[in-house]
Amino acid sequence: GKRTFSMIKPDAVAAGNSGAILKMIEEAGFRIVAMKMTRLTLAQAGAFYAVHKERPFYQDLCNYMSSGPIIALVLEKENAVEDFRKLIGATDPAKAEEGTIRKLFAKSIEANAIHGSDSDENATIESAFFFSKLEEVNA
Ligand code: GTP
Ligand code: MG
Repeated sequence: GKRTFSMIKPDAVAAGNSGAILKMIEEAGFRIVAMKMTRLTLAQAGAFYAVHKERPFYQDLCNYMSSGPIIALVLEKENAVEDFRKLIGATDPAKAEEGTIRKLFAKSIEANAIHGSDSDENATIESAFFFSKLEEVNA
């Protein structure tokens, strides 16, 4: 697949790390095809992370994801989903490899700076959650 979906999460936006993270994304060869800064309501965060609703951390996650502005992104590159997951690193920053976005910028396993889709199917679903077809440029 050529596209993935990402969000710069509230902790990274609040810490002023959005620019540094976008620079890493572009330097890794991803082209930004859609970008939007917004703040999720609690209900919208709940809908976005509905796949995790049985997990013990779901309520905390939804509170955190609606705690401040986020930047939603659609990114294009060959092998986008897999390559982007490598660039961001493991969910828990303590386990993330050196040089990954989460190793550099995540504060905890929850406030972990950035999201990346885990499959082509979810990349399409998550992109459509934030963007209309008209908002994705033909890069
Ligand atoms: P995303 O790219 O955000 O989907 O992260 P991921 O695919 O690496 O992790 P996963 O989908 O399993 O979890 C989604 C998000 O829930 C994580 O990015 C964290 O913000 C949060 N999360 C995951 N595991 C834990 C946990 O054990 N405790 C807490 N508090 N939050 C967690
Ligand atoms: Mg995930």
